[in-house]
Amino acid sequence: METKPFQLNLFKFSTFFYLTIGNLYDIMEITVLMENNKLKGSDFKTENGLSLLIENKNGLILFDTGGPKNYAIQNAQKLGVDLSKVDAVVISHGHNDHTGGLLNFFKLNDKAPVYLKKEALNPYYAKLPDKTKYIGIDDKIVENHSNRLIFVDKNLEISPGMFLIPDIERKFPIPSNNQILFEGKEDKMIKDEFKHELFMVLEKNNNLTVFSGCGHSGITNIINKVKNTFPKGKINTVLGGFHFQSGSETSIVAEKEEIEGISHWLADEGIENVYTGHCTGERGMEIMSPILEDKLHRICTGMKITLDIN
Ligand SMILES: [Fe+2]
Ligand SMILES: [Fe+2]
Repeated sequence: METKPFQLNLFKFSTFFYLTIGNLYDIMEITVLMENNKLKGSDFKTENGLSLLIENKNGLILFDTGGPKNYAIQNAQKLGVDLSKVDAVVISHGHNDHTGGLLNFFKLNDKAPVYLKKEALNPYYAKLPDKTKYIGIDDKIVENHSNRLIFVDKNLEISPGMFLIPDIERKFPIPSNNQILFEGKEDKMIKDEFKHELFMVLEKNNNLTVFSGCGHSGITNIINKVKNTFPKGKINTVLGGFHFQSGSETSIVAEKEEIEGISHWLADEGIENVYTGHCTGERGMEIMSPILEDKLHRICTGMKITLDIN
């Protein structure tokens, strides 16, 4: 009986903590499970691709699943991440450097829905100098796991403040490197229009964090869409690839002027943190660096990023 007042006080304190301190210091932790490079000296495995594990108090989201060698899932296990606890998977677009780990993920997790655009299931190809390569999703995902797929065709809030945005209007040019990317349609190859791409935004107290996969629709267009969708919002952080370089099997890289122009545009937008890697490429990073200075951060496999999301 003596303990009751103490328990009551403790309850009151924890409620107070949650409503005030906890709300002031709400954080999100992002772990780079896989991208093209890795932490120096680490033994993580890397291939061309992207996979991020995003954790906040509302749950655990796997944003893209890396490439077909399954290194994202292997790295997660090396990091001690329990993928059975993932609440939702988001697939940014239908290329296999972002969908490659899905089949192995399904072996470890039997509950998480996979959010993607329906068009992500279409066949996609890259025309390389010496061959045309299939870079679409593995058919077995649809054949064996269609019950896990949720198609996104309008803005969708998948957890409190976490939005998927599936339509990206074209106000600015798209990356020139998209030129080698195609969609297979009725025995023909047509230019990929990237209708299969979506992006994700976390909104809290009008502060915004933007996650994009490859930015095929143009990071400028993605940010413009964020501004139109959240007119009172302030974009603090952008995280993803900007497609200045096409995969690892080609040396096709965007012109310096294109990279500089986008870097100045990002700087003028006042975005505090630009975390990038993957298809931004080494040369892209080098050209962006003197323009964005300490706002630019290179992501790499094994890295953890902690963001105050208030
Ligand atoms: Fe990619
Ligand atoms: Fe891509």
